[in-house]
Amino acid sequence: MADDDSRAGSRYATRPILDWCAQAHAPHDAALARAFATPDDVPAIMVGPSEGRLLALCCQLVGARKVVEVGTLVGYSTIHMARALAPGGHLWSIEFEARHAAIARDNLAAAGLADRVTVLEGAGLDVLPTLEPHGPFDVVFIDADKVNYERYGTWALANLRPGGLVLGDNAFLFGELLDDSDRGRAMRAFHQLVANHCDSVNIPTPDGLVLGIKRGS
Ligand code: DHB
Ligand code: MG
Repeated sequence: MADDDSRAGSRYATRPILDWCAQAHAPHDAALARAFATPDDVPAIMVGPSEGRLLALCCQLVGARKVVEVGTLVGYSTIHMARALAPGGHLWSIEFEARHAAIARDNLAAAGLADRVTVLEGAGLDVLPTLEPHGPFDVVFIDADKVNYERYGTWALANLRPGGLVLGDNAFLFGELLDDSDRGRAMRAFHQLVANHCDSVNIPTPDGLVLGIKRGS
């Protein structure tokens, strides 16, 4: 039974338990292992195995055919979601760092997903408008520069179909969500925006993962 400590997120989810659960439900195959093992000069800041699996299941639940990701890094979350696309589906993923985008393309090709995913290089705010002709989208996953989350969220809500999902990683902002900072204000505004337009929740993953189902019909 939950007690105060476990409700506070500090009791049952030990490292061995989390690792065992990830292994049980979301074991890596060769392609995921390759994308998870970044080179030394690339930060290992991708979502964890269970969070990647959760993103895939979210895509599966809504029968996603058209997905946008803001923040590819080297394609780990991208592989999870691309594998969950309905037949004929496509994922557009935006990455600011050219080197990361190049590694991501290699990882996606190694996973056999090159034709289902387009990696676009550039700033999210520049690239997102170019994707609008492909919309409306079923899922938008935001995992990029935190100070722009409110802007990414606004784009997502304007370009998702009703019933589509907006997801945002790092929703606890590394423990700084309540700070009086530009990033803190932007992340809180993202939470509020999603809550105002969606049926939504913050899933208490280690980093926090906002999930919203866009309202309307
Ligand atoms: C950072 C970014 C992320 O998206 C993440 O999940 C963890 C860390 C970062 O910029 O440090
Ligand atoms: Mg992240």
